[in-house]
This record gives sequence, C-alpha cells and structure tokens, in this order.
Amino acid sequence: MNRKLRTGLIGMGCRGISLLHDTLLPMTEDRLEIAAVCDVYEDRREKAAKLVEETCGYRPFATGDYREILGMDIDAVIIMSSWRSHLDMAVQAMKAGKYVGLEVGGAYSVEECWRLVHTYEETGVPCMLLENCCYGKRELMVLNMVKQGVFGDVVYCEGGYHHDLRNEIAGGEVNRHYRLQEYLHRNCENYPTHELGPIAKVLKINNGNRMLSLTSTASCAKGMHAYLQKQTGPVTKYADAAFAQGDVVNTVIRCAGGETICLTLDTTLPRAYSRGFTVRGTAAAYFEDIDAFFLDQVHRKYEFNARGLWGNAAEYEDEYMHPLWRGFEPKGGHDGMDEMVYSAFVDAALAGVQPPIDVYDTAAWMCITALSEASISTGSMPVAIPDFTSGRWVQRQDIAEQKYALHF
Ligand SMILES: NC(=O)c1ccc[n+]([C@@H]2O[C@H](COP(=O)([O-])OP(=O)(O)OC[C@H]3O[C@@H](n4cnc5c(N)ncnc54)[C@H](O)[C@@H]3O)[C@@H](O)[C@H]2O)c1
Repeated sequence: MNRKLRTGLIGMGCRGISLLHDTLLPMTEDRLEIAAVCDVYEDRREKAAKLVEETCGYRPFATGDYREILGMDIDAVIIMSSWRSHLDMAVQAMKAGKYVGLEVGGAYSVEECWRLVHTYEETGVPCMLLENCCYGKRELMVLNMVKQGVFGDVVYCEGGYHHDLRNEIAGGEVNRHYRLQEYLHRNCENYPTHELGPIAKVLKINNGNRMLSLTSTASCAKGMHAYLQKQTGPVTKYADAAFAQGDVVNTVIRCAGGETICLTLDTTLPRAYSRGFTVRGTAAAYFEDIDAFFLDQVHRKYEFNARGLWGNAAEYEDEYMHPLWRGFEPKGGHDGMDEMVYSAFVDAALAGVQPPIDVYDTAAWMCITALSEASISTGSMPVAIPDFTSGRWVQRQDIAEQKYALHF
C-alpha cells in the first residue's frame, strides 16, 4: 500500500468543505489521510469531521485551536482559513515541521512575507501556495507555447479577478464570511494570485526574472452601495455603509526583464466571471476573453476582424496542449484545477521535495496586496517590490523535474 500523507486541515468554511468533499476525500483512497480538522466554529468542524468519518470510516481529531493540530504527529497542514490568519499559521506550521499548503489570498504587510521566507530558510520546511489557476487548461497551454517559443519574447501580460462578489460580500455577517469586513475597511488589490500566478510562471519570476515595482490605482466605490439599496433583509444594515474598497483596482508591475504586467481587481460591479488572462509576445498573443490566439504569421488577415478569431484556441489543442492536460479528465472543483494543484502538493510533500509553487513565489505574489494598498493610499505612487530570493533569482533554475513542475 502507498504511504499516505497525514494531514491536518485548518479552516472548514466554504472553500474548506467544498475542497474536502470534491477533491481531498477522493485522494484519501491512495495518497492522503485526513488526521485532523479545525475551525473556530464548532458546526463547521463537526460537518468536516462527519464527512471524513462517512467516507474513511474513522473520526478525525476536531478542534477549534489550530495549535493543537501543529502538535500532532502529522506530515502536513492545509490552511484554508480567512486571509488574515494565513501567514501566521504558515509560519507556526513550518516551525512545527509540518509541510505547508496555503490557500490563496493576499498579505497584509511585507514584513509577514519576509517572516515566511526567513522561517523557511531557518527550518527548511517547504510552503506551497495552492494557486489552482496555475494549472488551468489555457494557462498551462500558453505556458507550454511560451516554452516552445511560439510567442517569441513575451513583453506584456494582463490578468484580472473579474468576479461579481456583491452577494457574498453583502451577506458576510449572515454567512460569517470575512470579505465584508475587508471591503468595508481596506482598499487594495486584495486577490492578486489567480491571475499573477500563471503570469509569473510565464515570465519566469524568481527564476531569471523578478518584479521590481508597482503602481496601483483604485476607482471610487459605488457598486456595493447601489447593490445594497436594492436588497431586503439583514444585509440592508450596510446599505449606507462607506465601503473603502474601490470597485476596480488596476495594478501595473514592472519586471527586471522590462516586461510589464497589468492586474485588475473587479469584484463589485455587474459582469460575468473572467480572469482576463492575456499574454502578448513579439510573435503571438493569447486573449482569454475571446479564447483566441493571434499568431503573427497566421492571423494577419484578422487585423480588423477580431470576431473571426473568437474561440480559435481549441484548434491548437492537439499541437500545444500541456502534457498535464493530455488525456486528463477533470474531476472535482474549478474544472480540474483543484485536483491538479492538490495533487502537486501531496506528491511534493510525500516525496519531501520542493513544491512547484515555493515559498519565494508565495511571498512575491502575496506581497502585491500590501504594496498595492501602500500605492493607492499615496495617490498611485510607485512602490518597490522586495526581492525575497535575495539575489538568487538571477541564477535559480528549475527545481527537480517533477510531474507538476511549472518552471521551464
Ligand atoms: N483557490 C480557489 O479557487 C479558492 C476559492 C475560494 C476560496 N479560496 C480561499 O480559501 C480561503 C477560505 O475562503 P472561504 O471562502 O472558504 O472563507 P470562509 O470564511 O467561508 O471560511 C474560512 C474559515 O476559516 C475559519 N477560520 C478563520 N480563522 C481561523 C482560525 N484562527 N482557526 C481556525 N479556523 C479559522 C473561519 O471560521 C471560516 O470557517 C481563502 O483564503 C480564500 O481566498 C480559494
């Protein structure tokens, strides 16, 4: 029988329960053992414990204090709690010798990102940001094409978290969800990694390139107010609240190689979901919103007919689909991305090797939130982005070849 990764889960809210059900419990057949579940809310940890018991035939340890989990004889922890708690928990878990898987979110200060990196360097315990969008079908296909030179030199990338979250934010008090307080009190690029993660891999950030500086600009905040005016019930308590979070935040990042990245947070106005993944090179372009490639040698005739390109990406799958997606039949959440990122984590932790999204990636991507807050608060002033590798980015090469590697 295969060895299983003995794991503790922290944070059994929306994400924790859906991941447990759709992605983690299926993995308990051969690779994963869920030894403990934790949430400050008793009903949530009980729900999680019951799900594990029904599937695995044993009851995991359930607690409201995550430090009890860190004291257990387990290999790893998966942190799926609210953003504010992430980096403190990750640091303590690494100190306790537990391989860390960290759900996505942004940092509150650059200092806590440094603390994460220093803890890794002192303990040698890895930490992986569980950025599922790095394993998206199109994101990996584009990465594969960039690797093969189809794009020429990549010059500019764009991405966004375009997701109408008005209902989730407004219902924060009823649903015990943290986003409401975040939107009332902070104004920043609060969710950068879904789009920045895949872009950072395309641009070899921390492996031959790095992010140097950013500017962030926030629009006014009118979306939540307009939305709440039309609601009924308990959420109307916030109908006249002054939300700090601008409706649309644009962040422009400059890289050492001269490339630029534009990130957009867009979560409180009506629209359909998109991550707006866009990669522009000297020889080709990809536009997620029309799911189309513009290959310089092939598509010039569409110069004034963008509609003619719509949806053409599927035609290039046979030639350029990433090896991870060939023959892959997505199960679980987020079109298979969850299954892939959690498989990457469990495989790396079982093998005791570095994960494909390591502590330096985690710090670099998460710090964008704190830095965007500083830039917005000073009228879009440029802010320097720290080099968490302390100069090693120049020489760092692909880590050990592994199935889920994202470097090239
Ligand atoms: N990768 C994705 O596609 C994706 C999708 C949704 C959410 N997420 C991420 O998952 C995380 C959780 O999001 P959510 O929507 O489930 O939020 P949620 O508020 O529904 O759940 C978070 C849970 O963490 C618990 N918690 C907070 N502090 C704790 C502590 N100190 N100890 C124990 N439990 C604690 C809360 O009680 C809550 O139940 C966030 O980081 C979010 O960004 C990722």
